[in-house]
Amino acid sequence: MKQIEATKVKRLCKTHNTITVNGMFPGPTWEIKNGDPLEVLVVNQARYNVTIHWHGVRQMRTGWADGPEFVTQCPIRPGGSYSYRFTVQGQEGTLWWHAHSSWLRATVYGALIIRPRDGESYPFPKPKRETSILLGEWWDANPIDVMREATRTGAAPNVSDAYTINGQPGDLYKCSTKETTIVPIDSGETNLLRVINAALNQPLFFKVANHMLTVVGADASYTKPFTTSVLMLGPGQTTDVLIQGDQPPSRYYMAARAYESAQNAPFDNTTSTAILEYKSASCTAKKCDAATPVMPSLPAYNDTNTVTAFSQRFRSRQKVQVPTDIDENLFFTVGLGLNKCPPNFHKSRCQGPNGTRFAASMNNVSFVLPRNFSLLQAHQQGIPGPVPGTKLYKLKYGSRVQIVIQDTSIVTPENHPTHLHGFNFYIIAEGFGNFNPKTDTWKFNLVDPPMRNTVAVAVNGWAVIRFVADNPGVWLMHCHLDVHLNWGLAMAFLVQNGVGKSQTIKPPPPDLPIC
Ligand code: C2O
Repeated sequence: MKQIEATKVKRLCKTHNTITVNGMFPGPTWEIKNGDPLEVLVVNQARYNVTIHWHGVRQMRTGWADGPEFVTQCPIRPGGSYSYRFTVQGQEGTLWWHAHSSWLRATVYGALIIRPRDGESYPFPKPKRETSILLGEWWDANPIDVMREATRTGAAPNVSDAYTINGQPGDLYKCSTKETTIVPIDSGETNLLRVINAALNQPLFFKVANHMLTVVGADASYTKPFTTSVLMLGPGQTTDVLIQGDQPPSRYYMAARAYESAQNAPFDNTTSTAILEYKSASCTAKKCDAATPVMPSLPAYNDTNTVTAFSQRFRSRQKVQVPTDIDENLFFTVGLGLNKCPPNFHKSRCQGPNGTRFAASMNNVSFVLPRNFSLLQAHQQGIPGPVPGTKLYKLKYGSRVQIVIQDTSIVTPENHPTHLHGFNFYIIAEGFGNFNPKTDTWKFNLVDPPMRNTVAVAVNGWAVIRFVADNPGVWLMHCHLDVHLNWGLAMAFLVQNGVGKSQTIKPPPPDLPIC
């Protein structure tokens, strides 16, 4: 059971009334096995509406449990509850869960670890230890208020006041040294780090001083192992890496800092740290005579070359069946823009540049969520839509879909971590400039492209993804920078039922919250 409630949390010298799960920040880790059914009762004791999304879980025919508010369910009201029931099948590695309502996910999130079935093993030697590394952002304010203020004024919201590793800003921030996260390792040992970018609005670099990282999985899908000194994760993405205790026993910093591709966009340029500590080191976290840990040197905040080289190394572990004979060939633009302020708006509500409001769009439509029903419910019950901005794109059951996602931002070109609910997709190509169907198709990797649920579409760049629409329901696709989601960078697919029970969404659960 998960209880959503306000808890006192102290960070950066100040105590806040923070919305948490079971009083924990970050929230509890769920450890399951491939094929396990899950039932999670969420009880809302907070004063905000809430929903929980199981980020990356395929949710086969159980779309009612996916979680985005007003898409697959109405929110769980204060005092209400809802049981999420679904099965995790055919996915192994690291996913996570988070609130999918306003900016609550700033503090309502946690890891979802999926291990192989009994009798099966990892496709790499079993590590001695495993540690989840959740990267996040912390505001010295109530994140919901930060968001509300931005919505009211039409301006960009305040940037966060710290990055965090497992909820802690770490050594380099005020009042944070004692609580710095310690990650254990021992000489000759391997630790599997499950790195999750749970930050609201910030792609992040991650690096460990003096240690190389071997990537073995991403978004709960195994990859061909490759070794790198630095990771970059867009919000929503996960990366599993092996780290070897092959350095002199001591303490080494792990550090996370912004990758900011946008020109002139404000961001937090501070560094969050945790400490990789050798058990055999002569000192411990509390009492250490040794000098301060070694600090890794992170790439420059705008080092797009490093990011591109890194993302191009991802390959599925095995040859895969990439869908061919595409039925739906889609071209989606993702972008940031500025909207003229409506004439009836007061100046104070239009504090974007030159009296505008920020807007974001997919295919030039800024997505607006309904308020009195969920899209899935509306579809199942035949409630006539659409509300402007909530048009659904219909897909026939089983259709093979290709989407070219093209960044077309006119204000600040920015990296858009684009996340699709309910599916994994293959990223068959990525590039810069405008996608050219005549000359770019030769770049398609149809042999071993990586399978993911979130693709970091590069600034002024594009990505091509493919998937089979084999999961009936309503599925959100959106930018995982929450500020862009608020500005409307989203759309939803309606995947129709196929023939027979196995191709039809299950009936809604009896306790599904209605509006
Ligand atoms: Cu991780 Cu729609 O979200």
